Amino acid sequence: MWVATIELSEKEVRELKRKFSAMVLASFIAVFMSCKGNNEGKSESEVGEAKKEATQVEQKEPKAPPPINEELAEKGEELIKTKGCIACHTIGKGRLTGPDLAGVTKRRKLEWIGNQILHPEEMVEKDPIAKELLATYLVKMPNQNVTPEEAQAIIMYLREQDSEAKEGSEDKE
Ligand code: HEC
Repeated sequence: MWVATIELSEKEVRELKRKFSAMVLASFIAVFMSCKGNNEGKSESEVGEAKKEATQVEQKEPKAPPPINEELAEKGEELIKTKGCIACHTIGKGRLTGPDLAGVTKRRKLEWIGNQILHPEEMVEKDPIAKELLATYLVKMPNQNVTPEEAQAIIMYLREQDSEAKEGSEDKE
């Protein structure tokens, strides 16, 4: 019939097992050596460093924010007063109805801040961070009818504030 009966003596079985484990060991060594070979003797931290650099460049290159523009920042400072932001936000003086905006340009992406200023209602529905903020502050930030240009000025002002080392007032939750 098609079922072959293989009869092995105990000695043969032992021999086979020995060969098999030698093969497994050899392939482990081969894999290990090839990993080492790729890094060309660099220490693990060197490799990690190089990887980190690579990702930093990746993240920065497409949207490196423009340098601080004082004139625009000044406009932004005016706008947070005239648009009513300061009724709910301080910059570095603690939370009011809304979070303290000190350090906000460090803890959020600029694009995210832009969305929060321009579309706060949508953000609070869809964005996980804004949802979390709502859960903490229990108030929905109203749309202040800010134009994209005005939002740019406000973000420039927030960036300027954060760059002037007015730190130490990170999110106090
Ligand atoms: C009626 C109060 C109120 C006003 C007015 C208001 N906000 Fe807010 N803001 C909030 C609240 C509450 C939150 C957090 C909950 C949420 O996202 O709705 C928030 C969140 C934010 C955040 C995110 C903060 C963080 O820590 O990530 C930014 C940035 C922001 N507001 C900017 C502004 C700007 C700029 C203006 C003016 C154009 C403004 N807000 C006007 C109440 C307000």
